[in-house]
Amino acid sequence: MNEMLLKKRFQKSIVSYNENAFIQKSMAETLVNILPGKDYDAILEIGCGSGFLTQQCSQKLNYQKYTANDIVNECYSMITKYDKNIQFLSGNIENIKLENKIYNLIISNAVFQWFKNPYKTIEQLKTHLTPGGTFAFSSFGHRNFYEIKELLGIGLDYFEYSNKVKEDIVEIEFTSIIELLKHIKQTGVNAITNYTFTKGRLQEFERKYIERFGKIKLTYNPVYVIVNYPEH
Ligand SMILES: C[S@@+](CC[C@H](N)C(=O)[O-])C[C@H]1O[C@@H](n2cnc3c(N)ncnc32)[C@H](O)[C@@H]1O
Repeated sequence: MNEMLLKKRFQKSIVSYNENAFIQKSMAETLVNILPGKDYDAILEIGCGSGFLTQQCSQKLNYQKYTANDIVNECYSMITKYDKNIQFLSGNIENIKLENKIYNLIISNAVFQWFKNPYKTIEQLKTHLTPGGTFAFSSFGHRNFYEIKELLGIGLDYFEYSNKVKEDIVEIEFTSIIELLKHIKQTGVNAITNYTFTKGRLQEFERKYIERFGKIKLTYNPVYVIVNYPEH
């Protein structure tokens, strides 16, 4: 998906995401709970969205300065309720030049799966950590939404990360295929929203789903990566 389109879609879905994305909300909580330290001078959050992670950091971490980034400018007004002193860094983090900004913690929840080149971006971001700094993020593993990929052949290509400290498999059950599609639509920007379902296609999809998986369910595969860089 190109950057302009991605930005437009995130902009459009930010309110329904905030109301319905309970998995991403609990991932933000988990990520902050498993962080090794709670005191940081300067924090950079990437892809803050509606602020699930911003809220957790503002409640559970001690810091002097918090910078939050997102490609969608509207996010700024949604996160200042958690900390009115937050500095907002607008733009695509894969292209932004951070210059001399130095952080003790770079953190992100449910964003890296959208990157074009996450490994290069991680390497680049690491250079903006202080000695002894921490890089922590959550994203999704290759089992995420595998049911949709298997049956429709659409979905993100999830990346494999080293330094995973935790990985979960969470299954959510739905009463119908319509409920499942509604959940995907409300919580994300997903290729499935482009898919045209006629009544016949929908019935066929539901039949295939039950035949293959025994029920209408969706798998989330949250992964958590934390790297502490040694003092030098
Ligand atoms: C699934 S939402 C996660 C939001 C938030 N981190 C949370 O905890 O719920 C992904 C967010 O990442 C942002 N995003 C995606 N790609 C980005 C990029 N390359 N640079 C900055 N933000 C990005 C989107 O605009 C969106 O707000």
